[in-house]
Amino acid sequence: MKEVHYNGLTFVPYIENEKIAARIKELAKVIKRDCEGSVPLFICVLNGAFPFAADLFREVDMDAEITFIRLKSYQGMQSSGVVKEVIGLSEDIKDRTVIIVEDIVDTGKTIHNLMEDLKKKQPAKLKIATLLFKPEALVCDVKPDYVGFEIPKKFVIGYGLDLDGIARNLKDVYQLKENA
Ligand code: IMP
Ligand code: MG
Repeated sequence: MKEVHYNGLTFVPYIENEKIAARIKELAKVIKRDCEGSVPLFICVLNGAFPFAADLFREVDMDAEITFIRLKSYQGMQSSGVVKEVIGLSEDIKDRTVIIVEDIVDTGKTIHNLMEDLKKKQPAKLKIATLLFKPEALVCDVKPDYVGFEIPKKFVIGYGLDLDGIARNLKDVYQLKENA
């Protein structure tokens, strides 16, 4: 694997697709065990979580459903897009086991707001599955239930994660090379 370049920045290979796939198999087993007796609803947060959600969902060997939402930033808020409105959720999640699928939990603000919104709809269980988690960056009281990889506070791209909309189609995760 070699370095890749976007917007004049250099990124180095960080987590290979094979390693991601292996970790997803492990997470899927734990999710199956935790969700026994229910038909969980996976909620994929677009755009970034789509590769992870597709792979995770197919590894979960039980009856399950998947749906997709987007988080639309409120306009005119000084919090620069931190408060986000959920769009696209047509399913009734009351009394259901719900697993939010995210690409990354960084400050945790996005997932925290999303959890607060979804809790109002009274799901039986509300869990978070995230491919990546940056514990050092966390400023909110959230704890992801299923974490692919804990990573340091450095910018990453690939496997759904973008840099201004590009690089989502990289099969592996790459990390920003500093002092390049
Ligand atoms: P939050 O800070 O946890 O609210 O994360 C908000 C969003 O920032 C994530 O859903 C990602 O879209 C984006 N993000 C955070 N860290 C990274 C990164 O290292 N690479 C690409 N996107 C990121
Ligand atoms: Mg995201």
